[in-house]
Amino acid sequence: MIKILKDLEAISSEAADIFCDTAAEANAEGRDFRVALSGGSTPRRLYEQLASPPWREQVQWNRVQVFWGDERCVPVTDSRSNANLAEQLLLRQVPLPRENIHRVCGDLPAEQAALKYEARLREHFGERLPIFDLILLGLGSDAHTASLFPYSTTLGEMERWVAAVPAAGAEPARVTFTIPLINHARRVLFMVHGAEKAEALWHVLAGETDVQKYPAQSIRPVQGAPIWLVDQAAASRLRQAGLLAPDGAGSRRPGDQLSSDRSGK
Ligand code: 6PG
Repeated sequence: MIKILKDLEAISSEAADIFCDTAAEANAEGRDFRVALSGGSTPRRLYEQLASPPWREQVQWNRVQVFWGDERCVPVTDSRSNANLAEQLLLRQVPLPRENIHRVCGDLPAEQAALKYEARLREHFGERLPIFDLILLGLGSDAHTASLFPYSTTLGEMERWVAAVPAAGAEPARVTFTIPLINHARRVLFMVHGAEKAEALWHVLAGETDVQKYPAQSIRPVQGAPIWLVDQAAASRLRQAGLLAPDGAGSRRPGDQLSSDRSGK
C-alpha cells in the first residue's frame, strides 16, 4: 500500500497512528508489541510525536519491546548511533521500562555485535525466526534499506537473522537485520521523504527488478506488502511516470506495489 502525503510531518503522524494501532492489536492479542525502529534521520519527527499527545497516552509502554533493524557500530553516545536518536527523542520521554530496550552493542566489532544481537533475539523470541509486529524502515538514495546496501554479501544471507556490515570509507561498520527476518514481520512500514529519494523509490516500486542494485526490492513481507508512507517530493518520479492515482493518493491499485511492467507506461 502506498500513501502519498504532503510532507514529513504528515508521514510522521500517519506512522505514529500505525505504531499505536499495531501496538494495541498486539496487546489485545495478549503479547507485548515487538517493534524494530529504523535508523537515519527520517524517524526523528515520528519519535517526537510518539512522545507527545495524543500518541503518548495511546501506548501501553510497559508492553512494548524495542529493537533496531540496524545500527552503526559506534558508542550509543555517538550522534551517528540510531539508538542515540531514539533514546533522546522517545525512549527517555515515555514510561518504557529500560529492560524493554534491546540495543545493539555498538561498542563491539561488527561481527561480535551481530552474533550478540542475534543471541538477544533468540533469548526473546526463541529459536524460530522472529515475527516482529512492526518493522520501521527508511530508504537510502541508493535504494538501500536498513543496512542492506547494493551488491553487498548481506543480500544473500538467508540463514542468519542479523549480519555484520563492514566499514566503508568514512562509514562505520554496522549490524543489520537480514531479508528473511524483515520479511517475516507482521507489518513493515517504510517512511520516505524528500526529492533525493524519488529516483530510488521509482526503481524500487516500478522499475526493472534488480535486487542487488535496488536492495529494498527484496522487502516482500510474507504477511502482506509493505506500507509505504511517501511525501509528494519523493513521489515525484512515480507521478511523472503516470503511476499514481489522479488524486495522488497512492498507486493505481492500492494494496500492491507497482509492478515493473508499469515502468514508464
Ligand atoms: C541507517 C538506516 C538507513 C536509513 C536510510 C534513510 O542506519 O542509516 O537504517 O537505512 O533508514 O539511509 O536515511 P535518512 O532517514 O537519514 O534519509
